[in-house]
Amino acid sequence: MAEIGNHIEQAKALLDQGEVVAIPTETVYGLAGNALNEEAILKIYTVKNRPKFDPLIAHVDSMEKVKELVSEIPDEAMILAENFWPGPITILLDKNSKVPDLLTSGLDRMAVRIPNHPLSLELLSQLDYPLAAPSANPFGYVSPTSAQHVQDQLGDKIKYILDGGMCSIGLESTIIGFEDGKPVVYRLGGTKVEAIQSVIGKVDIKVNMSSNPAAPGMLKSHYSPGRKLVLGNIDENLKSLDSATTGVISFSDSFDVPQTNLAILSKNGDIDEAARNIFAALRKMDQPHIKVILAEYLPNEGLGRAINDRLKRASV
Ligand code: TXA
Ligand code: MG
Repeated sequence: MAEIGNHIEQAKALLDQGEVVAIPTETVYGLAGNALNEEAILKIYTVKNRPKFDPLIAHVDSMEKVKELVSEIPDEAMILAENFWPGPITILLDKNSKVPDLLTSGLDRMAVRIPNHPLSLELLSQLDYPLAAPSANPFGYVSPTSAQHVQDQLGDKIKYILDGGMCSIGLESTIIGFEDGKPVVYRLGGTKVEAIQSVIGKVDIKVNMSSNPAAPGMLKSHYSPGRKLVLGNIDENLKSLDSATTGVISFSDSFDVPQTNLAILSKNGDIDEAARNIFAALRKMDQPHIKVILAEYLPNEGLGRAINDRLKRASV
């Protein structure tokens, strides 16, 4: 099993040796390695069992370090960076030759983000390389929002998990890029589309459910809780099912199933709280006796859009 602790120097020592280490961010935990070291990048793909056509995000702690990796930063990207970094938004920018093709799966654009977590910002400030970090889950499974989630699934494959507590956002970053100078959101995530639009105006949203060449990681098989998930009116759907073997993920209401089978995302109907709880709820349903999961859509606004996106992906 991996050691769980909050020692930055221990994480740094392993990363300096080309090892991979799990790190906390405000969105989800990442599986981090030196983004400029091909061996470290390969280790990330191996530990996650992730296909190499699915590129990785580079994490840094300052705008100066972003500038060292990319060939140019469009004005609107600069506005996004100023408004939302450090924070849950990833921006696609043209990479320069310093960045290995392996990081971007051969694409000309790289994904970069300044995360907003004190431990990881401190760690990044002590490194002279960026950290490649996908979510720290096996490929296709739900993202981890606590150190224990990482331990449960990758603990036998890595040495150290830097423990930064529960993730404060609970959903992966929003991914945005530019096509012919126009902003396009490729993944709904922790930065609300409404907030983005309030600073750069209207954005296109292209979150393909099948294989999306611009963001190949957004495959429909993602976020699988390991069993069938049915979206819709929970009351109605529950009528024809055995409550002993049915899991329920509701926004705010309680339902007549055993406590072990029930996850209420926010008793007060708070969408941001629901975001913090959604991935733990999907994991809770991964129990042998649960045969089917019932869930419902949240209001399609703010982080509700990203939660609905993840639920939809988990259901196909
Ligand atoms: O919140 C997050 O973004 C977390 C934390 C750890 O920062 N990371 C994360 O990484 O969710 P990952 O690898 O699980 O998802 C990132 C997605 C990939 O699936 C990929 O499709 C897309 O970002 N991506 C990465 N680089 C890209 C690129 N150069 N062009 C297009 N899409 C890219
Ligand atoms: Mg992921």
